[in-house]
Amino acid sequence: MAIEHGNAGVKGPRHTTIRTERLLLRKPRPDDAESIFERYASDPDVTKYVGWPRHTSIEQTRSFLAFSESQWAEWPAGPYLIVSPSTGSLLGSTGLEFETTTRAQTGYVLATDAWGRGYATEALIAMRDLAQTLGVHRLYALCHADHRPSARVLEKGGMTFEGRLRRYAEFPNLGQGQPQDVLCYAAILDFPSGTPEGNTP
Ligand SMILES: CC(C)(COP(=O)(O)OP(=O)(O)OC[C@H]1O[C@@H](n2cnc3c(N)ncnc32)[C@H](O)[C@@H]1OP(=O)(O)O)[C@@H](O)C(=O)NCCC(=O)NCCS
Repeated sequence: MAIEHGNAGVKGPRHTTIRTERLLLRKPRPDDAESIFERYASDPDVTKYVGWPRHTSIEQTRSFLAFSESQWAEWPAGPYLIVSPSTGSLLGSTGLEFETTTRAQTGYVLATDAWGRGYATEALIAMRDLAQTLGVHRLYALCHADHRPSARVLEKGGMTFEGRLRRYAEFPNLGQGQPQDVLCYAAILDFPSGTPEGNTP
């Protein structure tokens, strides 16, 4: 993974662009709203298991972009768009959501025509490497307990299963109206000989 340093921000060098073997990850821009909306944020299949309401208007996508800007202003990194390096077409998104300077959450969303090629795993590994570079000690991710493809991505990306959080979160696009069980996976990035075993009291 090659991390390129973009413009210097208030907190030092910003990793605004990341190149992996097959993907380009970059900070979102205001003019990305239409393609984000059309490619995945308004798609019922893509948004089924995400924690945010499916976008039904471009204003919701613009709100996400405003959120992205605020995250990038406050923290060492934030959301990334996943694009094809050859065509520049939008494939999906990922990112780091910092909760403290040493703890961050990650996730991933791909347009349906980009599923099944290992892209989510490749993006997750890039986020994990970036988190380590930025001094994150705990990187974690949550997924709906029934969402096997996402859990599989987390396993392939070297995250350790920590446990099932019962009735933890509502999923607005499932229409169930009550909190659902989620699976929690994490990587401990400051552990010198790799990730210690999870799920031990
Ligand atoms: C979930 C998602 C990110 C997976 O992306 P992807 O690039 O297709 O994932 P990968 O190709 O890296 O890996 C998917 C793995 O899940 C496996 N898988 C797919 N469907 C499965 C199922 N029903 N049961 C078990 N495993 C399944 C695949 O076989 C693959 O594992 P393998 O490489 O061992 O064969 C993608 O489908 C997506 O964007 N979905 C919509 C958004 C979303 O739900 N995001 C996650 C929110 S927590």
